[in-house]
Amino acid sequence: MIGIVSYGGYIPRLRLDRMSIVQNIGWLAPAIVMVAQGERSFCNWDEDSVTMAVAAARDCLSGTDKKKVDALYLASTTLPFADRLNAGIVATALNLREDILTADFTSSLKAGTSAMVAAMEAIKSGEKKQVLVTASDRREAKAASFYEMWFGDGAAAILLGDEDVIAEFRGAHSVSYDFVDHYRGTHERFDYTWEERWARDAGYTKIIPEAINGLLAKLAISMNEVDKVVYPCFFKREHASIAKAIGATPDKVVDNLHEACGETGAAHPLVMLVRALEEAQAGQRIIVAGFGQGCDALYFRVTENIRRLPPRIGIKGCLADEGKKTIDNYLKFLKSRDLIETETGIRAEAPSQTAMTVLWRKRKMILGLVGGRCKKCGTPQYPKMDICVNPACGAVGEQEDYEFADVPAKIKSFTGDMLAVSVDPPAIYGMVQFEGGGRLMADFTDCGLDDIRVGLPVKMSFRKHATDKERGFTGYFWKAVPLAGAAKEEKQEPEKAAMPELRFDGKVAIVTGAGGGLGRVYALELAQRGARVVVNDFGGARDGSGESSTRPADAVVEEIVAAGGTALANYDSVAAPDGGERIVQAALAQYGRVDILINNAGILRDKSFANLTPDMWQAVLAVHLQGAYNVTRPAFAAMKERGSGRIVMTTSAAGLFGNFGQSNYSAAKMGIVGLMNTLKLEGEKYNIKVNTVAPLATTRLTQDVLPPDFLDKLKPEFIAPVVLYFCSEACADSGLIVNAGGGFFSRAAMVSGPGLTLGDGQRAPTPEEIHQNWARIDSLQGAHEFPNANDALMAMLAPPSPIPNTQSADKETRASGQGDKETHANGQGDSVQAVFERMPGTFQADKAAGVDVVFQFRISGRGGDWYAVVKDKTCKVEAGVHPKPTTTLKMADEDFLKLTAGQLPAMQAYTSGKLKIEGDLMKSQLVTKLFKF
Ligand code: NAI
Repeated sequence: MIGIVSYGGYIPRLRLDRMSIVQNIGWLAPAIVMVAQGERSFCNWDEDSVTMAVAAARDCLSGTDKKKVDALYLASTTLPFADRLNAGIVATALNLREDILTADFTSSLKAGTSAMVAAMEAIKSGEKKQVLVTASDRREAKAASFYEMWFGDGAAAILLGDEDVIAEFRGAHSVSYDFVDHYRGTHERFDYTWEERWARDAGYTKIIPEAINGLLAKLAISMNEVDKVVYPCFFKREHASIAKAIGATPDKVVDNLHEACGETGAAHPLVMLVRALEEAQAGQRIIVAGFGQGCDALYFRVTENIRRLPPRIGIKGCLADEGKKTIDNYLKFLKSRDLIETETGIRAEAPSQTAMTVLWRKRKMILGLVGGRCKKCGTPQYPKMDICVNPACGAVGEQEDYEFADVPAKIKSFTGDMLAVSVDPPAIYGMVQFEGGGRLMADFTDCGLDDIRVGLPVKMSFRKHATDKERGFTGYFWKAVPLAGAAKEEKQEPEKAAMPELRFDGKVAIVTGAGGGLGRVYALELAQRGARVVVNDFGGARDGSGESSTRPADAVVEEIVAAGGTALANYDSVAAPDGGERIVQAALAQYGRVDILINNAGILRDKSFANLTPDMWQAVLAVHLQGAYNVTRPAFAAMKERGSGRIVMTTSAAGLFGNFGQSNYSAAKMGIVGLMNTLKLEGEKYNIKVNTVAPLATTRLTQDVLPPDFLDKLKPEFIAPVVLYFCSEACADSGLIVNAGGGFFSRAAMVSGPGLTLGDGQRAPTPEEIHQNWARIDSLQGAHEFPNANDALMAMLAPPSPIPNTQSADKETRASGQGDKETHANGQGDSVQAVFERMPGTFQADKAAGVDVVFQFRISGRGGDWYAVVKDKTCKVEAGVHPKPTTTLKMADEDFLKLTAGQLPAMQAYTSGKLKIEGDLMKSQLVTKLFKF
């Protein structure tokens, strides 16, 4: 069986947000905005087609034996040398065998697929066993052209062979025409392009289907026997119509990656093929076609071996967030491509001629990063020399070749040099230490000074070293690149280390219900961090019934003492007032103080409300709500006397949000929040902080409610950190509720919406007015918290300046809440919310025939998220975020109001960057057509 053995990909780290092109030069060619979706990839200043081909090939060869490669074909239309075999540079950088065939495939965008066809033929004939095809392109386009928007830089590599095949080659078909939709003359930088309509109608949509249909006919199969089709075409509509012409349903067509990186020239059919292989299942059949003065089409069938292919970066890895850096600095993009001339100073004039004699003699060392390793002591060194660097060895003439390119390495030292000549100052260089030995003074690339630090892992990357413009020569060498994400991780480490340990030495803590579940873990961890703990537990059944037992509390005290801590058991019930007194008294009597109280004891008596009996109601309220009061009362007094204290309450999602069958429990748990809300105010001047945790953990209370799979994920240990934080001096907050479970922490809060005032203050509004204004009363858009009831009342009674009611012409209404902060930039006293509420009334149904679109508006400041769904000539406007918007419009509140008031033209907002658009740009323009604001 012959076919694909392995694949690899490389998309440069840098991406340019296409909108930044529009924003910088869209004034010259506004139409480019039509294709400004997403981002395009572009090479760093030290990358070209050769370096990208090396990167993709290294990815492809990972986990394979590169000594088996019999030929290397490099495909590109942007090769740095017209007469010096570029594939030869790649082969030397990869340290392939020297008795292989190397060849450049060039001058057409189908060079990549043509190289694959040639490789398959060589393997089929038995002449070669393995051929590595690597395709790469870094095409230039004129500023403000569609091609600048469409193009991206990138590379892919496919290893073809006759063993361990992951996708079997079934056949190929080519057509060849001297169809010149564009060309690039020798010595020209940019393509000359003919009329696009002709390229689309006579080229793409005719020639690609001809090759693919020809292949199907040749193999006597139909499109039913194809699962994925790859054919680059940056014209969106034609990409779809080609599918129709070959009978492929949209789900079979592989995305052309326009939004992710752009079209990578001769590499693109292979880049898209790699993307398809990354998702492919055994048995799937893939057609890949490359277009350019004709078209090649190849047919593959994925085999079971695909599962055994070792993990690689691939195109997927390069497109992942971690593998990229998106910038919106259009000038930097131009400079990195040498499209603008800038001052470099006389240092840049230093001679840069390469001595070909030295390059030949040291080719392995320079291009292949090959050093030496001592055969006697095994010490690696770079460069390779006659004498071993190990002082304890010093063997002479014992060095064997040792490849450093793939050896893991770390930064030993580095500097940023603002004086050195650099396209991207500062020039960063330093010492790299290889694992197992060997050091190299290297330049660093694809990073800024903030991204690196001593000890950070780096990988070696083949890059342009110097360009001798006078003689037209590009010199290559290896540079160090920090591993993606490593700096971020490292940065977090020191912060973690610098954070002082939260200790409770000398403090006394009371934990109620600490004989099991969450309370036990709180008690153990507080004791472990130095606190003396009163372990309270009544020891009854889950529903609070049964005899009291000393066993649970005693067992936890034993655990604490065995671990070297200090603790005291208490068996009182929190449900009784004197029980609470005795618990606090025990702490005062034994340890003389109370610094921390965790109200945690709890029981459950679940029943739907209709079946809930008064004793079930009473019992649950007695333990949770009364219990919290009973213990807090004496503890608060002791804390007040000392002038400090920390109290943690325990609420529940059932109380905060409701839960079927838990009306008693929900009421009690929400009562506890009310208790906290007032204690936070009364405790303030005594430095008593009161906070509440809403846990989710597997304990006796939840063991039969939560699925067993969650047992490990929801251990009480995941709740303790936030509870201990609340107990510590480090916590300066009071009155907060935090949801906690499985390592997730978030704040929950009571909020009020901005609302509105109805009527004139003399006459009570009517229920009809409530009905009419319900959307605004109901809305939480722009909602906020109040620190206390007073502030909430003031906001209600002293609303801001009146805003005319935009919904009813005859009644004057005023916006309320925090309306003083509302934006009324449009001179009509309008708010963003009012504009959206009015929006359905401004809808031009007669202009909406056949329109099916979701506009998402994300308005910053006092705006919020709103979306409008237009379908079947109707319009619905809602607050919030739509899961699948067609187009997203982002603006500041003031600009939005100016725009809707006609004071800011949409195009001006867009080109000045005040309006940002994501998703379908064309559809976004429908807003002004469909709504008369
Ligand atoms: P648990 O049943 O393991 O622990 C509760 C402890 O309180 C038991 O050891 C029990 O003997 C003790 N207790 C019961 N009545 C008492 C009384 N009158 N006086 C003294 N001690 C008494 O349950 P878990 O899950 O550890 O519950 C701790 C707290 O967390 C409770 O307030 C519960 O409502 C709350 N909670 C727990 C959630 C979870 O997912 N586990 C969810 C939401 C809230």
